[in-house]
Amino acid sequence: MTRSSSMALALLVLAASALSLLPASLAVTSPYVRPATRPTLPLLQDDDDDGQTPQQVHISIVGPDKMRVTWITDDDAPAIVEYGTTPGQYPLSATGSTTTYSYLLYHSGKIHDAVIGPLQPSTTYYYRCSSNPSREFSFRTPPATLPFKFVIVGDFGQTGWTASTLKHIAAADYDALLLPGDLSYADLIQTRWDSFGRLVQPLASARPWMVTEGNHEIEKIPVVQPEPFRAYNARWRMPYDAGATPSGDNLYYSFDVAGGAVHVLMLGSYTDYAAGTAQYQWLRRDLAAVDRRKTAFVVALVHAPWYNSNRAHQGEGDAMRGAMEELLRGARVDAVFAGHVHAYERFARVYGGKEDPCGPVHVTIGDGGNREGLAEKYIDPQPSISAFREASFGHGRLEVVNATHALWTWHRNDDDQAVVADQVWITSLAANPACNKNKNNMRTVNIQN
Ligand SMILES: *[C@@H]1O[C@H](CO)[C@@H](O)[C@H](O)[C@H]1NC(C)=O
Ligand SMILES: [Fe+2]
Repeated sequence: MTRSSSMALALLVLAASALSLLPASLAVTSPYVRPATRPTLPLLQDDDDDGQTPQQVHISIVGPDKMRVTWITDDDAPAIVEYGTTPGQYPLSATGSTTTYSYLLYHSGKIHDAVIGPLQPSTTYYYRCSSNPSREFSFRTPPATLPFKFVIVGDFGQTGWTASTLKHIAAADYDALLLPGDLSYADLIQTRWDSFGRLVQPLASARPWMVTEGNHEIEKIPVVQPEPFRAYNARWRMPYDAGATPSGDNLYYSFDVAGGAVHVLMLGSYTDYAAGTAQYQWLRRDLAAVDRRKTAFVVALVHAPWYNSNRAHQGEGDAMRGAMEELLRGARVDAVFAGHVHAYERFARVYGGKEDPCGPVHVTIGDGGNREGLAEKYIDPQPSISAFREASFGHGRLEVVNATHALWTWHRNDDDQAVVADQVWITSLAANPACNKNKNNMRTVNIQN
């Protein structure tokens, strides 16, 4: 294909996307030619660290108006966050707790977290950690109503491409980042978790980063390190004990944003999910408590994709899909975002392997930039349910515009430019009469025992 005809094709895809919401029968494999891979970044150190210096700061949403601040100091330091709306002035404070962990010969720094609030929506707060005057951080709280802007990207790692992806995300005006697993690619080397914390701090201290686990978080070694998720659970504590339906487990949880207009399910691909397990029962309770007359959009994140036409990781999400797909369709979940496969792919609305106007849109967005490189081999011919696929690094943006419309955009890292390579409107299934025949009973429609 010539360059101009591939340009024309890209424009056609964009136009078709904009017009028809979801181009059902247009299966596109992008002809894009990628730039070369980039090596892992050198281990990021903290040069000004005097042992008390807060580092690896990140924040996460807790309930409608609170935020958890998590940070690490090398030495003992108080687990206090002081904050306010004026730089340099911290009239408010909250004290949390401190944990540490050991992993083989590695001993972590002091991992602190404190929950601050109540906070005003859409407001910039300035804060410092452990009363340390050397570093002031700031974040903006998410809005309490729509519109709401998510960035979604998985499988970050810490290579030159990760840095490029982070630069593009930093240029986006977003409210919260959703990460469907595979954060640091530390792969047992615990100092790489510290390095990752330093790499993402500029972004993750300024906007909530909501994560769920991937296979690279497991870090289990038979006999010597039998407990999985040791570093992940210690460093990336999420609000599993908050919200309408607490899960009680850091490996899966849910939360609301925009005053309850959007409900986000962070599911766990590497903990039990079969019928009767704790995660399954929690998901049933959680979905039954969502009132779709008030909640315009429900989105779910998993690590291993339930739909995937890349040759990499074929079938790895099938068992979880078999267990949970019916629950998600029953609750009219609007979209499912996955990582794991290091490429981008967007499917039509699907259920049970087939197109279904009342099933979720499935998207693979495992293209943050990690050291394992891209998954470039696809199954041919492209299945008709696969609308667009391309093996490039990049990130996605989901802007929930109002109660009926959300705009999904995939930004490819093209050398160091962010280029929009796929875009589509996703409409709320709660607002689709054909998917909600029994309106009065919408909240529990099709969720069976
Ligand atoms: C919601 O947003 C879409 C896309 O911008 C627009 O077409 C539609 O009219 C909006 N709906 C309302 C009720 O404003
Ligand atoms: Fe993975």
